[in-house]
Amino acid sequence: MSDKRILLIIGGGIAAYKSLELIRELSRRGIASRCIVTKGGQEFVTPLSVSALSGEKVFTELFDLDDESEMGHIQLSRSADLVVVCPATADLMAKAANGLANDLASTALLATDKPVLMVPAMNVRMWEHAATQRNVETLRGDGVTVMDPDEGAMACGEFGPGRLPEPIAIADRIQALLSDGPVLYGLEPKPLAGRHALITAGPTREPLDPVRFLSNHSSGKQGYAIAGALARAGARVTLVSGPVSLETPAGVDLVPVETAREMLEACQAALPSDLFVSVAAVADWRPSRAAAKKMKLKEGDGDPHPTLELSENPDILATLSRKKKNRPTLIIGFAAETHEVEALAIAKLKRKRCDWIVANDVSGDVMGGTMNEVSLVTRDGVEDRWPRMTKEDVATRLVERIAREFDDEAGQIAAE
Ligand code: CTP
Repeated sequence: MSDKRILLIIGGGIAAYKSLELIRELSRRGIASRCIVTKGGQEFVTPLSVSALSGEKVFTELFDLDDESEMGHIQLSRSADLVVVCPATADLMAKAANGLANDLASTALLATDKPVLMVPAMNVRMWEHAATQRNVETLRGDGVTVMDPDEGAMACGEFGPGRLPEPIAIADRIQALLSDGPVLYGLEPKPLAGRHALITAGPTREPLDPVRFLSNHSSGKQGYAIAGALARAGARVTLVSGPVSLETPAGVDLVPVETAREMLEACQAALPSDLFVSVAAVADWRPSRAAAKKMKLKEGDGDPHPTLELSENPDILATLSRKKKNRPTLIIGFAAETHEVEALAIAKLKRKRCDWIVANDVSGDVMGGTMNEVSLVTRDGVEDRWPRMTKEDVATRLVERIAREFDDEAGQIAAE
């Protein structure tokens, strides 16, 4: 168990309630939280609930005699190994970027000599505003770690980047900052140390001409979460990814690609590997001919009704599964289905000759969302049905299962 401590500054915003989940998740990992709740934050969470969860006195006022006699704001700002602002509002970031100190939170941020992590959450327009982006740049330039917000539907009804990342992802980042590198949920020795994991994620883009492409709605979140969890489990991770707007998880080697054919080539080049997890939503087809120049509607000989001729893309999962030489020991595919999920997954496993399939029902809000509900199918049939959980939790659970598999395999070899 770690004996680390953070100073958690809870700003005002609808996402403030998630800081309670964060405190719980950190405490599960042996990390204590001492909290400051700003005036705005108190509109969303009460100091009493924060104190009940953190098990410590909660600080709210700059000029509170009690606090000053027990612990001054300077001491408070330095009494932790890391200062975390969650949620970091546009206002708090603006103050910190400009060195303002007119309340307890901003004063602590100015007085601290410890590393600072900011986890922004705000309306998408506020996040994208030039002033906020300038402040984020300034903060990063000052050495502050600013996490990228998640993308999705927001409480205000708009859609885009601005959502607070999942508490488990924030806790991972905190743990990584505290331990100066990727971590695995406190497990030592790391169960996948010495293993090489290859993983594909995101969509592919199949060009039609220099400005147009065929693609799909994959956000890459599930694949990136698995890549991060594999790194924390000690594996060397090569992540071959189509275009997504996600941060590369700590300790992961990213190989960015666009098309299915580039993805296959990058995977072949990354072999040998012990594990291959095929999470990418690879486009099944590509335009047979990509025009060298932008296709025009009206000018010259432009065709008002162009027809698309498509060619089949290589199947990366099936190609790697059928390899005679250099086949990864464990190959896991994903099956996104809208009906007869498990039956189709079993058929897919046989057809592609992979070892496991993680099957999910994508008829709901899975694509692009943060939640997932999956079944684990092995060569012996459906092994497990997991309840609906975050993609981060699916990643953790899958990596735990993978670690057990390699552990069994190592045990068998030792016994022979
Ligand atoms: N996959 C792949 N290469 C492709 C297509 C799919 O590697 N050209 C992998 C995906 O990464 C996933 C699995 O195959 O692990 C299943 O993908 P899915 O799209 O569900 O299967 P398809 O082969 O496209 O089958 P169908 O569209 O008929 O369901």
